[in-house]
Amino acid sequence: MSKRVAAVLVAGAMVTVLTACGSGGGGSAGKSSGGKLVVGFSQVGAESGWRTANTKSIQDAAKKAGIELKFSDAQQKQENQIKAIRSFIQQKVDVIAFSPVVESGWDTVLKEAKDAHIPVILTDRAVDSKDESLYASFLGSDFVEEGKKAGDWLVKEYASAGGDVNIVQLEGTTGSAPANDRKAGFADATKGDPKFKVVASQTGDFTRAKGKEVMQAFLKAQPKIDVLYAHNDDMALGAIQAIEEAGKKPGTDIKIVSVDGVKDAFTAMSQGKINYDVECNPLLGDQLMDLVKKVKAGEQVPRRIKTEEGTFTPEQAAAALPTRQY
Ligand code: AHR
Repeated sequence: MSKRVAAVLVAGAMVTVLTACGSGGGGSAGKSSGGKLVVGFSQVGAESGWRTANTKSIQDAAKKAGIELKFSDAQQKQENQIKAIRSFIQQKVDVIAFSPVVESGWDTVLKEAKDAHIPVILTDRAVDSKDESLYASFLGSDFVEEGKKAGDWLVKEYASAGGDVNIVQLEGTTGSAPANDRKAGFADATKGDPKFKVVASQTGDFTRAKGKEVMQAFLKAQPKIDVLYAHNDDMALGAIQAIEEAGKKPGTDIKIVSVDGVKDAFTAMSQGKINYDVECNPLLGDQLMDLVKKVKAGEQVPRRIKTEEGTFTPEQAAAALPTRQY
């Protein structure tokens, strides 16, 4: 077969595939993008190292998959995400994907997407909508499980300790799925022993600056802090600065358990400043693009896809550091 004939056949096959995709997801594939699938993606913001890695993973994966990505940064505001989703609907994108900043308040805009026959995929964070027909699939971590893993570590670490263990908690963004679930999972794991006392708990909005500021306030207000539980690494890293500035040794005077597993936290762990890290994997891009294609083609996809994740001791973090991707 000559190269030219082969090229014509391939082009013909592509048209067939795109036509099939068009009927599956309810829209006509790639109308606005010369045959490419078009995805509108509304990201939470750029609040953490985790988020930066997640954004890069999604952008790289879209490029690799030949998908046009319309990217919108919500700067941690739900109203910006709602605006972005409405704009994606107006632009008639093929699929909408988003990582909802908070869990509640999405039904109206999701209904608008459904009425426009644009499938929606949730990635990273969930919504609390009762109507499951409002989205096709949810790809992301089990945040309750992450909180449990942090609590389980603490229970083991203090198994033989007598007296109260005073814990301060840096919560993620108020109303967000990871803040709600990590708090609940941790409480569940530690509830069996009354010596574990959460003496202060406040949001640090998943950022380093807020983590530091809130930890400074905790240090001033609390006469005895044994443990810091941070809902993400950036807040833990900010808190480490506050602890050091207060003349204490993070990881020794105050034990620290955190969530994410980003490189900066692994560096801090290798220096003995964080005692345990529960992994939350941000590299969701390839799986998301795969889902986008399937959803658009009208294929059945699982309603829930959980990310595989581990946990890290300081020794494991130090060993993983040289090859850590994010
Ligand atoms: O939703 C995932 C969480 O959001 C990550 O743990 C955190 O770092 C991010 O900001």
